[in-house]
Amino acid sequence: MNNIAVLSSGGDAPGMNAAIRAVVRTAIHNGLTCHGIYRGYQGLIDNEIVALKTTDVSNIIQRGGTILKTARSDEFLEAAGRAKAAANLKNKGIEGLVVIGGDGSFRGAQKLASEHGIAVVGVPGTIDNDIAGTDMTIGFDTALNTAVSAIDKIRDTAEAHDRIFLVEVMGRDAGYLALHSAISCGAEHLFIPEQQEDLQQLIDDVTNDQRRKKLTNIIIVAEGDEFGGAENLNTYINQHIPNLKTRVTILGHIQRGGSPTPNDRILASRLAFHAVEALINGENKIMIGIQNGGIVKVPFSSENKEAHQMADDLKKIALILSR
Ligand code: F6P
Repeated sequence: MNNIAVLSSGGDAPGMNAAIRAVVRTAIHNGLTCHGIYRGYQGLIDNEIVALKTTDVSNIIQRGGTILKTARSDEFLEAAGRAKAAANLKNKGIEGLVVIGGDGSFRGAQKLASEHGIAVVGVPGTIDNDIAGTDMTIGFDTALNTAVSAIDKIRDTAEAHDRIFLVEVMGRDAGYLALHSAISCGAEHLFIPEQQEDLQQLIDDVTNDQRRKKLTNIIIVAEGDEFGGAENLNTYINQHIPNLKTRVTILGHIQRGGSPTPNDRILASRLAFHAVEALINGENKIMIGIQNGGIVKVPFSSENKEAHQMADDLKKIALILSR
């Protein structure tokens, strides 16, 4: 392996730049040429590929977003798009690819590897922390810090006005960000896709709280919750409890930006370093993950089999400590 490339794909996550930096510098340290591909798989199809030097990745470890930019590509879902992408890699003599992204990005990577013989290694990067095979994804810790700092501020104003706030947290179909935010902020209620909602219980709790003059509540709602987010839940609550002072805050894309936490910078550096070493060792179609503090290599095929399991004790803790 003499020549590799790196791209970021799907939603950006804080720490992706630290991963790009680590790929480039580990590759160069090992005598490899390293290319950066702009705008994910779409940029690969459009041949937006440039050679990167050590100094091209200076001063980026602390920056959010991704210097390589990112995109979601419909064309890459088609075999013809992947053939174009592979031809562009081969024209530049690129034999291996590091893909920083989520499970959708890894499915594309697996196809590229199987159909065109390009070695591909995945590095999990998404604020959703929803990838099976790794305890943590790049960006989750920073997004959690952002959400918690916002919710703490919301609690100040909620308490000042004796209001109930419903705060919607990102996570696509997963409730990790919501669950961890709820425990960290001492939220009174939590709605996530991974557990059954008891709406009657919510109404009873809020009504009881009002009776005993506990007028401030923080209700965390995962965007992927089956109720359909915080706005819908707010409508439901107001239909059942008249004259309640409620407000809705949707945290939105603020959770994707900002300077990565030290934990995310270290995780990104570590996973990306091992991704390049894996390519050098001839490994292919794997994701580099972290489990119980150690590096693991998860075949793409098994990575896709089951969803990331949420720790049951955390769900229980969120419930018990909210009472
Ligand atoms: O996967 C990361 C994520 O931020 C999800 O939490 C969210 O549902 C989605 O991406 C938003 O995507 P977009 O930036 O395309 O609106």
